[in-house]
Amino acid sequence: MKRDPTSFLKEEYDALVKEDLDWKLRVLEGPSTPWCVVDGKRVLMFCSSNHPKLKEMAIRAIKTHGVGSGSVRPIAGSMDIHFELERRLAKFKGAEASLVYQTGFAANAGLIPQLAGKGDLIISDELNHGSIIDGVRLSHADRGVYKHCDTADLARVLDEAEKKSPAPRRMMIITDGVFSMDGDISPLPEIAKLADEHGAMLYVDDAHGEGVLGEGGRGIASHFNLPRNKVHVEMGTFSKAFGVVGGHVSGSKSLVEFAYNKSRTWLLSGSHPPAVAAACIGAIDVLETEPEHVKRLWEHTNHFKKVMKELGFDTGKSQTPITPVMVGDSARAKRLSERLYEENVFALPIIYPMVAKDKARIRTIMNAAMTKEDVDFAIGKFEKVGRELGII
Ligand SMILES: Cc1ncc(COP(=O)(O)O)c(C=O)c1O
Repeated sequence: MKRDPTSFLKEEYDALVKEDLDWKLRVLEGPSTPWCVVDGKRVLMFCSSNHPKLKEMAIRAIKTHGVGSGSVRPIAGSMDIHFELERRLAKFKGAEASLVYQTGFAANAGLIPQLAGKGDLIISDELNHGSIIDGVRLSHADRGVYKHCDTADLARVLDEAEKKSPAPRRMMIITDGVFSMDGDISPLPEIAKLADEHGAMLYVDDAHGEGVLGEGGRGIASHFNLPRNKVHVEMGTFSKAFGVVGGHVSGSKSLVEFAYNKSRTWLLSGSHPPAVAAACIGAIDVLETEPEHVKRLWEHTNHFKKVMKELGFDTGKSQTPITPVMVGDSARAKRLSERLYEENVFALPIIYPMVAKDKARIRTIMNAAMTKEDVDFAIGKFEKVGRELGII
């Protein structure tokens, strides 16, 4: 058979372009700060992060430890700075131990397939993040899905599994803590109760809860005052509220010892440059010593949601700083985003296939570095453009 080995690349890309589903990448020229320059235009950005302390610590680490770590963690790439970060994180989370991965995606893709295998069952919320879905796909376990945040449906899946012969050897429930598209919070206490009743492991992806929920931003388990041993794996990322990059898991010492001996993404991929590890330590320092950031984040969030709702915008079921501005139709969401950009507000549309066809929205994420004037500036522009496009 005569094959053309690469023609599909262009064909598939062209098909995406034709349907207007391709990513058009904007260029951020300079740091990710609330006011920044995107494609040459000064705009207010809805997902930025930066703090002088983190920059200082990163620069210092380059001077003391160099640029690269030199290797993967298990060979020669475990520096004192990586262990320091893990100690600081475990203390911050109130966990016995923590383990840092290159990214949150690497944590989910590397750990989930090791925690459940043949003869086991992984039960997942239907709206879990793609990195969880891929982690589950990499495992040889059976899969169950329950309706979004619906604990009655989760109970049904668990009961049905128990009736199977043989019943699953191990069961693991996985949920996002805060859902990344809608900003709603998973009903963790009820899920933990069901996990307890069935002897299931509970794995929470707290990527959007850390730095936001709970005491000083300690995350969803703290938010619900759940005893430490009820959530067996608390996974998170330094790439969101912490403002750097890197995934992590926290839990028992046995979990961490197991994870660093088994996760292929951890074992087989280079470790963080020292500057990254140092900046992550800086982020923990900031959360521990400057509580005003989390407080301001919530003040902005509450103000933004309240005024936007008063203006007639639909902000969905968000309970957190992730606030969708629901538009419905994809073309309209794109138009809203374009018009906002012309008015110096940078907020991207989330459209089909990332969300259902009639659930397109602009996703905004509040930021502690913004001022109240910045938030009001954005609200003013949403009002102007929202009226212009007949959204309110
Ligand atoms: C819920 C959730 N989990 C995991 C990730 C992946 O995190 P990272 O950016 O560190 O790879 C993301 C990022 O988009 C996320 O939203």
